[in-house]
Amino acid sequence: MKGKFISIEGIEGAGKSTQMSVISEYLDTHQIPHIITREPGGTPLAEEIREILLKPRQSGMHIDTELLLMFAARAEHLNTKILPALNAGQWVISDRFIDATFAYQGGGRGVTEQRIQMLADWTLQGLMPDLTLLFDLPVATGQQRVHQRAAALDRFEQEKIEFFEKIRHCYLQRAKQAPDRLHVIDASASLISVGTAVRAALDKLRLT
Ligand code: TMP
Repeated sequence: MKGKFISIEGIEGAGKSTQMSVISEYLDTHQIPHIITREPGGTPLAEEIREILLKPRQSGMHIDTELLLMFAARAEHLNTKILPALNAGQWVISDRFIDATFAYQGGGRGVTEQRIQMLADWTLQGLMPDLTLLFDLPVATGQQRVHQRAAALDRFEQEKIEFFEKIRHCYLQRAKQAPDRLHVIDASASLISVGTAVRAALDKLRLT
């Protein structure tokens, strides 16, 4: 039987990493074989592309280059890691997937939805996540969390508030258009209630 595919989305500072651990723990508890991965990245080659995409020194990157590199990393990730795992019956949990491209390159950078959809039709081979958890919170709250971290900011994190407002808006629009797949979770709530909401969404998926 094919495994289930879950993607995790949200703007910077939404607490995705913490919730990835909650998800992994949940799947371990229910003895569901799974892999945890991320985009851009997830394979050695795609991780190299990630480095190019996130390095602040590439600040002048053309938007088409950014878009195509995202899809190049995704093609590698999908064909060599995601699809083989799903076909082997494992669940795949990816920290970001296609919705991030619509939100960041579409909403944030202004690439048309049609252009992104064209690349998605080509590379995804019809695969979409069974469930997408969108961790939503006000941009200012997310930014505060990001700036509290000691690490240096990457090329996306260095963007202005307006960029993230557009991304948040786009994510929420997508959630409205596909409410059965995209599940919005209030990421500004306490860690305990965010964790409870995550487990409830996973219960629903596991039992269907
Ligand atoms: P993250 O690991 O903190 O989520 O960083 C990945 C960055 O890449 C994040 O700023 C969002 C961005 N991104 C895109 O712009 N488009 C995409 O398709 C994906 C997967 C990520």
